[in-house]
Amino acid sequence: MPMSLTPLSTAQAIMKTFKVLPTVPAAASRAIQLLNESEVDMGEVADILLADQVMAARVIRIVNSPLYKLLQEIDSVRQALIYLGPQRVFEIILTSCFLELTDSQSRTPLKMQSCWEHAFGVGLVAKKLASFSDDIPQDQAYIAGILHDIGEVILSQQRRDEFTRVLVLARERELDLYQAEMKVFGTSHAEVGALLAEQWRFPEVYIDVIRNHHGLQSGNMSTLTRLVHIADQICLNVGFCCKYGNAEQREGQVYGIDMLDLERQLSSLGVKRLSDFRASLAELVQQVKQTVESIYG
Ligand SMILES: [Fe+2]
Ligand SMILES: [Fe+2]
Repeated sequence: MPMSLTPLSTAQAIMKTFKVLPTVPAAASRAIQLLNESEVDMGEVADILLADQVMAARVIRIVNSPLYKLLQEIDSVRQALIYLGPQRVFEIILTSCFLELTDSQSRTPLKMQSCWEHAFGVGLVAKKLASFSDDIPQDQAYIAGILHDIGEVILSQQRRDEFTRVLVLARERELDLYQAEMKVFGTSHAEVGALLAEQWRFPEVYIDVIRNHHGLQSGNMSTLTRLVHIADQICLNVGFCCKYGNAEQREGQVYGIDMLDLERQLSSLGVKRLSDFRASLAELVQQVKQTVESIYG
């Protein structure tokens, strides 16, 4: 890579080659902005959702998935708002926004079900960890987890041939996708994702997570970015990994991640009751698998 090219300038150049710039549904974009306001207006959420029928149908499907364990079937967005409240409904909009991006646009050499498990897993693990801390908002942790690798999906869709090389390199040399992307592209899904998130006008907190979740070398990572980085490592460790296409490959892959070190990092973020977190992990893993299965199934 010539000296003048940085991961950022390379990502900008790659974005210019995209035939169509991926878009996020307007409803999702608006919902993410609303979530950052102090008072959430239920009526406004319902109107946004009802205006987008594809989105509304997805929301209903996710509401009825095992994740929410409801006693009765929900068949309208208004009912979902009443049963689950605005916070949960926001999460669901975000989840469907990611689904929209991952399965409505062009083909990719990645297996989307694996990527889904990874994104969803990082969202749920980050949220669970945040629930054991006093100052990390759970909803922010969930959203940041769902979105952190958004650039990977887009990069793999827009630059299929090179991304196929990324996958081969990552598997052969046991690199993670970030490292393999740096070798093939000179930039990564983190930079590309952050540039997209800027275009989609996501709040700064999420852009920071997307851009910096692999950048452990920079000591000034935000608390949320550090939390998502740890949730990312935990999910790779339990086999939620985009690098492998089928379940056997994924589950056979044991990452040498030092859980004790992660727990030390979590303590420094103010996350308490780590034994409770450890005890809940198996159930979370099951929840992710069942939910993704029911959405894709
Ligand atoms: Fe990543
Ligand atoms: Fe990740």
